[in-house]
Amino acid sequence: MKFKIPFLDLARFPEELKNSLREKFSEMLDKGLFSGGNEVFKFENKLALYQKTPFAVACANGTDALEIALRVLKIGQGDEVIVPAISWVSTAEAVCLVGAKPIFIDVDLSGLMDISKLDLVITSRTKAIIPVHLYGQMVDMPSIMQFVKNKPIKVIEDAAQAFGSHLKGRPAGTWGDIGCLSFYPSKNLGALGEAGALISQNPTFETELRAYINHGQLLRDEHFLVGKNARMDSLQASFLNVLFECFEEWQQNRSYLAEVYWESLKDMAWLNLPRKTLNGTYNFHLFTIQTAFRNQLKDFLNNAGIQSIIHYPTPIPKMKPYFDSITYPNAERICNEILSLPLNPWLTENEVNYICEVIKKFNPNLSS
Ligand SMILES: Cc1ncc(COP(=O)(O)O)c(C=O)c1O
Repeated sequence: MKFKIPFLDLARFPEELKNSLREKFSEMLDKGLFSGGNEVFKFENKLALYQKTPFAVACANGTDALEIALRVLKIGQGDEVIVPAISWVSTAEAVCLVGAKPIFIDVDLSGLMDISKLDLVITSRTKAIIPVHLYGQMVDMPSIMQFVKNKPIKVIEDAAQAFGSHLKGRPAGTWGDIGCLSFYPSKNLGALGEAGALISQNPTFETELRAYINHGQLLRDEHFLVGKNARMDSLQASFLNVLFECFEEWQQNRSYLAEVYWESLKDMAWLNLPRKTLNGTYNFHLFTIQTAFRNQLKDFLNNAGIQSIIHYPTPIPKMKPYFDSITYPNAERICNEILSLPLNPWLTENEVNYICEVIKKFNPNLSS
């Protein structure tokens, strides 16, 4: 179906930017360098500067970043890792990939891990917690760090959706032991393909992180651990270096449009707006509303040519590979009520106004 307003249309990159990317591609083609090299180092340096970390390790995608963070922190068979019941599946998937067991915890009504429930799930096997900064809203990291203080529990931040989010001036991904980022094309800073990164305030992790993403070697043919091929592609690094230049301007566009949504929709009694987006920590990644009439509203928007997306329809512990029989009331409610409206730097104010007008015309009393 062709939407009048698609959720995200990356073909809307401005022509000038497309030309810069084409030029970069030609440059890389002429250099003939497609793995490693200067563009990857350049991106890592820019990233470390932006994230205020001593180093950043570029990698193939956010899922590999999570798996490698777990491996570097020596988490595996027999260990338990606490993860929120709502996230993109990678958060739990990575835990299973290293042979550990994901222990799910319910979320609050914003979709973030409910920290007050940590005490209920912690056991002697708990080796890590993975808070997820869902939709770009930040988890209360000071409380998590306080919780693990003096406990043998590591914290891996899943900041895949939170590049550009800050709490108390400190970027998402820099609070825990290791932070994992994704530069999947739909993210606030997205590559033209798959890409991710690992960051940490602890410089002692750098060597192993670099080895894990590169078959367990730092120097060619000197393999000292079992790693994998999770290197960032040179082309993606080169595109990210071009796209990084636009990031701040895009963030401003996102912030402005989120404000337009807020102003226009704040008085709709049947609709909950994302409250955590007001606390100054949010990177405007997804604008998620909640309503008991979600499915009807989604159809109504569809009929008006507006694409909306459900992030996510099923709590992870209710998916077959991760199933448990525990109930997660908030996660289940959110999965039934959440709806992400289009929010991206290439959307116009008129389009957001149109989306809001359509929402205001929706009558929940008439929907069944
Ligand atoms: C919360 C979360 N974690 C992990 C990932 C995995 O990132 P990637 O798609 O780059 O593997 C994503 C990506 O969508 C995500 O949203």
